[in-house]
Amino acid sequence: MASLEETAAALAAPGKGLLASDESTGTIGKRLEKAGIENTAENRRAYRELFYTADIGTAGVSGAILFRETLFQSAADGTSFVDCLLRQGVLPGIKVDEGLVPLEGCPGETSTRGLDTLAAACAEYKAAGARFTKWRSALAVNPAAGLPSDRAVEINAEQLAQQAAVIQAAGLVPIVEPELLIDGSHDAAAFAAASERVISRCVAQLWQKNVLLEGVLLKPQMIIPGADHPGPKPAPEEVAEATLRTMRRCVPAALPGIMFLSGGQTEEEATVNLNAINQLAQQQGRAPWSLSFSFGRSLQASVLRLWSEGREGNAGECRQMAAALAAANSAAVLGRYVG
Ligand code: 13P
Repeated sequence: MASLEETAAALAAPGKGLLASDESTGTIGKRLEKAGIENTAENRRAYRELFYTADIGTAGVSGAILFRETLFQSAADGTSFVDCLLRQGVLPGIKVDEGLVPLEGCPGETSTRGLDTLAAACAEYKAAGARFTKWRSALAVNPAAGLPSDRAVEINAEQLAQQAAVIQAAGLVPIVEPELLIDGSHDAAAFAAASERVISRCVAQLWQKNVLLEGVLLKPQMIIPGADHPGPKPAPEEVAEATLRTMRRCVPAALPGIMFLSGGQTEEEATVNLNAINQLAQQQGRAPWSLSFSFGRSLQASVLRLWSEGREGNAGECRQMAAALAAANSAAVLGRYVG
């Protein structure tokens, strides 16, 4: 069995990134229903099969994050999804948090649940083939209202680090995801300031809880303005400058990979911005970590749209599109994406 350090390094290998396909039953259901597809277990399974039987491994996907239900499902030919992934060199991962709950004393803010049952769940997931995990916290950004509050930042950082310690003790690599939400009208500077606070506290907590930094991956948002910010969208070069500046200020060089979420950006935006981040890092010759992707919507949206149009008839085309999206983002990790 590979060490935590080896697994984390493999997930963040040059040109490699992650497919986030761990939407909860409710979240994937909303996306399926928006595309006119009923949220049944069989439809969720068939949808996931498109990705796990596509050539995503050769296209640059090193790991796929699964939801609990999916970890135990199989392709139509009876091959388990875990085996579909492993046979193309893609490591299976699993979302281990159990979603967000309101945080007492912090109106409008949340913490994440799932710590109580985590150790037992890990043993089961590991036996099923999972090699890494994801835990997501979510913090709202609203500088005028004082969000995120210091208390929410601290409690979420403690939880992220605590779960990382439990996950590593179980022999799995934790992805630590302190998501800062895109909702709101804040500008990029406010988002950068909030990200700096949040990531710094997470890193301090990881260190305090003796988490092996070489065996952790961070999953932050790129530094972009809020979805309702009135100004024009920033140029990719500006996103790259702000994102690298923020990451350099708070992410230790010991972490092998910063695996960005797409967090509400379109497919093209997320890929172009990731490409710009890597081009700038290369020009400056100053990035100790892999700067890569752990995209959900940006690796899936076009595939879902296409599938909703053809269903049974166009699975092959859907698989090709899934692989093409992965290949585009793999090129972006190398700073070689051409739109
Ligand atoms: P998006 O890329 O759609 O933001 O999803 C990534 C993810 O897994 C968020 O937890």
